[in-house]
Amino acid sequence: MFSARLFSFFLTLFVISCAVSARPLWSTRALKPRQSTLNVATCTDPATQLVEHDCNVALLGLGGGIAGTIEFLRVNSSTTSATSGTCTVTATAVDGGETIDISKGRLEGHGSTNGGFDNLLTACGPSPGSMVIGGGANPTGNIQIAISAAA
Ligand SMILES: *[C@@H]1O[C@H](CO)[C@@H](O)[C@H](O)[C@H]1NC(C)=O
Repeated sequence: MFSARLFSFFLTLFVISCAVSARPLWSTRALKPRQSTLNVATCTDPATQLVEHDCNVALLGLGGGIAGTIEFLRVNSSTTSATSGTCTVTATAVDGGETIDISKGRLEGHGSTNGGFDNLLTACGPSPGSMVIGGGANPTGNIQIAISAAA
């Protein structure tokens, strides 16, 4: 009788410890990079007004230049920035991204729910802030676009 109880006690203990250690959901989730919310502008300094044209020129200066017929911003680095006049624009691979590979259309993202430079400008004006654009990073991940005052 006693040993049967003891056995059942240890069996219960064993089952509980199995249940506790077998939690693959938590461990695989922890390995996945956190995903940023897309197309949400964070305006960090509305009092600082930059010149919009400077920000547009800075954007087109990213990665050695993406003006004219160049359709992609491809940078073998996790971050790149360019400055023109009052404005610095920075693109950074986030959410697991290691390098940048994004089309110009997606980077500008005018009116897209996927985010983009134009949407950031619409939300913050030519003032400091950032937004995450879906996709555009290798091997996986998203691109954060940021506007800041030129140093
Ligand atoms: C990218 O950069 C890494 C290290 O900085 C280098 O090893 C690799 O060859 C580069 N790839 C290309 C395609 O330039």
